[in-house]
Amino acid sequence: MKVFIAIFALIAVTSAEFQVQTSEDLQKYRVECATENNIPAESIEHYKEWKFEDAHAACYINCVFRKMQLYDNDSGFLVDNLVAQLTHGKPDGIRASVEKCTETTETDNCQKAFKGFVCFSKSNLGLIQQSVKKD
Ligand SMILES: *[C@@H]1O[C@H](CO)[C@@H](O)[C@H](O)[C@H]1NC(C)=O
Repeated sequence: MKVFIAIFALIAVTSAEFQVQTSEDLQKYRVECATENNIPAESIEHYKEWKFEDAHAACYINCVFRKMQLYDNDSGFLVDNLVAQLTHGKPDGIRASVEKCTETTETDNCQKAFKGFVCFSKSNLGLIQQSVKKD
């Protein structure tokens, strides 16, 4: 019984871990990821305009998504967290669209994160940009 309660408590703690990320969080991750990935200043200017077209973009996106707890190199996209982030904790039927974008045969983690990101943008999921708006 004690073991059961301990496991249950652990699950509760684990699943409560994800916090919807704010624009302050994103701002912080952008700076960290630019540094960690040695992103040239010129690319950063493009990213600020939401243009992710150069060769550095994929790993930068991978980094931002990992820091936002929306992606994990081992398991790929964290769909539950994505849905929570996109809906501010109020899931409203976008899960199917999210899953469609996260299904991939891509094995490279940068490309995998990047392709999902591009798909979210095309699917008008307004990922990140809108989802981090202050409530
Ligand atoms: C995740 O994968 C990317 C791309 O291979 C790599 O740059 C990054 O360091 C990895 N991060 C972790 C925490 O494994």
